[in-house]
Amino acid sequence: MRSCGQAIVMIGFMGSGKSAVGRAVAARLGVVCLDTDEMIRAHAGRGIPEIFEQLGEERFRVMEAESLEKLSGGKPVVVVTGGGIVLRKANVEVLQRLGLIVHLFADEETLSQRVSRRDNRPLLRTADPRTTLHELYTARKPIYEEAADVSIDTSRCSIPQVVELVLRGIAAARLAKQ
Ligand code: S3P
Repeated sequence: MRSCGQAIVMIGFMGSGKSAVGRAVAARLGVVCLDTDEMIRAHAGRGIPEIFEQLGEERFRVMEAESLEKLSGGKPVVVVTGGGIVLRKANVEVLQRLGLIVHLFADEETLSQRVSRRDNRPLLRTADPRTTLHELYTARKPIYEEAADVSIDTSRCSIPQVVELVLRGIAAARLAKQ
């Protein structure tokens, strides 16, 4: 167990359920839910697809790292992150200091179905989004797994079921820490 802060940090691939589950976990615990993509959107005054389109992915990644500077593990908040936040090792180190890292995952087919419901992921706006998803997922999977304190398969679970698993996983991880 590497963390010392009080935050619960949600990581995982696009479509893994971080935002919906993070909000629901925060509501259950009666704490604030912060979302790095929301922070970036508010700061930039435009949406994530527009940031990618107008400023490029590299600038987005800088903004993503900057959003982490505004967070502290001093309070029991839930932090929802964008799927690519783990691409920078320094980000992972910050997240680990903030608190417990919960990794949500799902099988590729489920992820693909979930993300295709909305066209709001610039990285998947390619000629072959399914192959792009496979390539990104394959590259990132080991990074999520290595970073996480708790990993939860959301493939066949409803949001309330995942929330229960997250709460149980956090409790077990905290017990193991004592
Ligand atoms: C990204 C995931 C997105 C968002 C941006 C980049 C990624 O967030 O940060 O489009 O690199 O995986 P979600 O994981 O909430 O979709």
